[in-house]
Amino acid sequence: MSIEEQYDTYPYPARNPKDERKRLIQGSPSFPVEMDHYLFGGKRNWREPIRILVAGGGTGDALVQLAQVLTSAKRPYEITYVDLSVTAREIAEARIAERRLQNVTFHTGSLLDAPEYGMFDYIDCCGVLHHLPEPDKGFKALSEALAPQGGMGLMVYAPYGRNGVYPLQEGFNALSQGMSAKERLAFGKATLRNLPKAHPFKTNPVLVDHKKSDAGFYDLLLHSQDRPYTVSELAGALDRAGLQSAGFLPRALYQLDDLLPAGMDVPEGLSEIDRMAAAEKLRGTIKTHIVYAVHKGREDLKAIDPTDPWLVPHLKSGAGPQLAKMIERKGKILMDFQTESYEWKIPRECAPLLALIDGRTPLGVLRERVGLDEFVFRGQWRRVHDALEPWNELNYSKLYV
Ligand SMILES: C[S@@+](CC[C@H](N)C(=O)[O-])C[C@H]1O[C@@H](n2cnc3c(N)ncnc32)[C@H](O)[C@@H]1O
Repeated sequence: MSIEEQYDTYPYPARNPKDERKRLIQGSPSFPVEMDHYLFGGKRNWREPIRILVAGGGTGDALVQLAQVLTSAKRPYEITYVDLSVTAREIAEARIAERRLQNVTFHTGSLLDAPEYGMFDYIDCCGVLHHLPEPDKGFKALSEALAPQGGMGLMVYAPYGRNGVYPLQEGFNALSQGMSAKERLAFGKATLRNLPKAHPFKTNPVLVDHKKSDAGFYDLLLHSQDRPYTVSELAGALDRAGLQSAGFLPRALYQLDDLLPAGMDVPEGLSEIDRMAAAEKLRGTIKTHIVYAVHKGREDLKAIDPTDPWLVPHLKSGAGPQLAKMIERKGKILMDFQTESYEWKIPRECAPLLALIDGRTPLGVLRERVGLDEFVFRGQWRRVHDALEPWNELNYSKLYV
């Protein structure tokens, strides 16, 4: 079964263009504020046009998010969409038309030809590279199409959180040779029902795609070309393509010290990737890696400095006042992530700061509005930043300024 045939029969993810009238699907990678945070130090000048490639854009989630957010922010952009599947492209085109968005060019073709479309300031490639027969060629093609100061947002599958998937894919593939995509789906669904309740796939609570749609079932369990990446393997693939990570997210998932017993230090001599790789193995539930990447040695990219008064903070949930109330009442924030609930302690006196975050006001102005001197403000802001930023709940960007 060719990849084109799969995605022409079950364009992924399953989307109805009419739904664009009622909701915008938001996600990572490729939310402009988040791109700015990881790839441009929170300081991109969005009045300058941005050239974007959406590589393997499928039915258009990232494409629609990028075009809609930049249009609403009145920022100039040009987006090139490429996908092998004609059906997926038609759905993506219909979604863009439904929203009357402009400046998108559609191509049916392979991301291996990315450099032929020019150089891009940003490349989105979500859920595609692990499906290529030779993924390294995909990483390299995208790297060649990336402008020297540009960045990309990638998502690839990760092995441990997908526990149970790969033996099923192998079994289903071996037994369904010669079937059409529809016959394979019927066969896969019927067979899954016969498998024991204790099957590792059935007891894996982080896998849900197969319950959402036929396209989701097919993509998860019937794919004929799918290889997951550990953190170390992904770092290796980036390196071979001349790229390096600018942030895995949420970073907190990869923090080894959070998983070790109290008082135990991380063993010395481990590189950052070794520590993340150990955390991935211990945690066991990471099913995808979302990583922002840049060309190796990009010197202008500095780590975010949360004491910089010009940075403009954004809360992912957009719920500053709500979070502020929670802190006032409990001195902590509770957040659900996949199957877990996490608790972040934030001192009650930080609540007024959170209430004022609106995605437009720089830190220096926030400080003036709450009437704190610089030293006290820095201390309070550090607590907010350290609790929220590793979970990707807090980003910095001048998108709306
Ligand atoms: C799992 S879907 C992901 C779609 C979209 N990026 C998203 O995250 O919703 C994978 C998509 O990659 C496309 N694809 C696979 N190999 C490709 C290639 N070499 N060049 C371009 N598109 C490709 C498929 O047609 C399919 O639409």
